[in-house]
Formats: sequence, structure tokens, C-alpha cells
Amino acid sequence: SKPRVWISRPTFPEVIARLEPHFEVTAEAEERRFSPAELAAKLAGQDAAVVGLKDRIGAAEIAGAHRLRIVANLGVGYDNLDLDALSGAGIAASNTADVLNESVADYAWALLLGAARRMTAAERWLRAGQWHATEFKAWLGADVRGRILGILGMGRIGQAIAHRAVGFGMPVLYHNRSPLPEATERACHARFVDKAQLLRESDFLVLVLPLTPQTRHAIGAPELALMKPTAMLVNVARGGIVDDRALAAALRERRLAGAALDVFEGEPALYPGLLELDNVVLSPHIASATTETRRAMTSVAVDNVLALFGHGPHAGRPPTILNPSVLDK
Ligand code: GLV
Ligand code: GLV
Repeated sequence: SKPRVWISRPTFPEVIARLEPHFEVTAEAEERRFSPAELAAKLAGQDAAVVGLKDRIGAAEIAGAHRLRIVANLGVGYDNLDLDALSGAGIAASNTADVLNESVADYAWALLLGAARRMTAAERWLRAGQWHATEFKAWLGADVRGRILGILGMGRIGQAIAHRAVGFGMPVLYHNRSPLPEATERACHARFVDKAQLLRESDFLVLVLPLTPQTRHAIGAPELALMKPTAMLVNVARGGIVDDRALAAALRERRLAGAALDVFEGEPALYPGLLELDNVVLSPHIASATTETRRAMTSVAVDNVLALFGHGPHAGRPPTILNPSVLDK
């Protein structure tokens, strides 16, 4: 009989259908958050799983999944997966690296400009019926030209964000675990600085680093205190990288001019203080949410599953495997 694959969330059925010649496919028809016990029950008996960021998969969830060989994550970040537990069990894990770089970079700029020009607050005001006359000095925002763009986390998404800065006339500073090769740095017109300098000098600081135990609260009260009171913070990375309570306090007290956030600690719940503020643009974790990109992400997940079972153009080599050492076993 065919191996079995479970898809945890509604996605693009015509892309998932590529699995059907080789697998017995069970695809969830509705978007749901599964409890750990439900996930364990869903994974038991499956040979493969395509999961989303809200599915947290660790030792307990795979304990009864004796046939499971791959977990393909629909996201570039994979803090929802316990990679050590999966590797220990000989289970491959994959993400959707690269296909979302440009969409996420576009969205980071949408948030940055939205915060600089107060777009969402102005729209709320308009929708509330408060636009009675056009005032010359109403809704004044900040220009971005000539201001310093800071990027914390300079992987491929960070680099795609930096490339766009040329058109906006913004010099780019960045910090990363290690500096980029000189040629790459030159190509994205970006200069490496230490984290404290990045915090002090950025007019707009964009976060694009993965959530790990080391990056949790990488932006907390002490870091916010280093930033200019005129600066704005943009987070398209992960909730938990920013201490949302400290951020809300800084925004409320105007120690920071603004923020634009696509991700939150404990989302979909939000730190209540954030909702009360007018100087923050909020969105529901949609930086990669374009039709093309979500389709491409689904396709990459399917490529990885097919490849692990020896099918398709990447047979034997899942293209975005996170723990390639499991292939040696
Ligand atoms: C992707 O960003 C998701 O919602 O899981
Ligand atoms: C989205 O948050 C992703 O990690 O792809």
C-alpha cells in the first residue's frame, strides 16, 4: 500500500495533488489549531506530514509516530519544530527557504512606509467619519530618504530588503552573527556594525532574524533604550524576538516614535497594550501571504516530501532539508 501523508492545514489542493500518485493523502479541510495530543494522534500512522507554523512538533508529538520520515514545514522559520527531537528519531525536516524572500522583503517595506506615513492610523480616522476638511498639517509623517535603514539579521530576506533601499535613498547598516562576504555587502550597499551601534544609529530598524533561545527578547527594554526617540521598529521575523511589553511601554511613552509589527509574542493573542496605541501598524503574520508565494511554499513542501520518498526531480535529496544528517542513516 502507498505511504500516507497528512497535511495539517488548507492549502493549494492542486499543488497537494502532486502527492496523490505516490501517497494516500489526508488534508485538513479547515484551519485549526491542534492540541499536542491531537497532533500526536494525527501524526501516528503517517509516513509524512506537511505542517504549518502553528503546529508545534516535538518529542511528545512524534513519540507514537513510528513510521514518520519527514515533516515539511510551511514556513522559512521553524521554531515550531524541535529539530533535535526529529533528528534523534531519524525524521527529516524541511522549510520553505528562498521562495518567500521577495514577498517578505516587499512587505517589510510596506510596513516601514506604513509606519513612516501613518497609513493605518489615518485610515482608521477616515473610516470613523472624522475627515471633514483637509488640513495642511494633519497626518504629517516622516520621510525615509536619507534616513538610516538598520537590518538585524542579514540572511537572504535581509539582503532583499537592503536591495530595495537604494531606490528609497536610504543608507543601510546591518548586524548579523557574522559579516557578509565583502562582495555581497557591496551588492546590497550595506555596512556591518555591532548591535549597539545598529540600535543607536538606525532611523528604521527591521528585524529579520530567526527565533532561537539566543534571539528571544533580542529587542527588550535595554535595547529599546539605545534607540533614537524618533526611530521606528519593524518586525517581520517572529514574535518573541521583541519583548512586546517593553515595546508597548516605549511606544506609549514616546521613547520610540513608531513600530510596524507582523508577528507577536503568543500570536494570535496580542499584548493588549499594543492595541491601544496609534503609533503602531499591526498585521496578522502575513508577510509571505501572496498567492504566488503561498503557492510556491506549498510546492516546496511537496517537493521535499516527494524527494524523500525518491520521486520527482530532487529524488533522494529534499531541496530544503534542515537536518541532512538523517539522510545518511
Ligand atoms: C504562515 O505564516 C502561517 O500562518 O503558518
Ligand atoms: C513565516 O513566518 C515563515 O517563517 O515563513
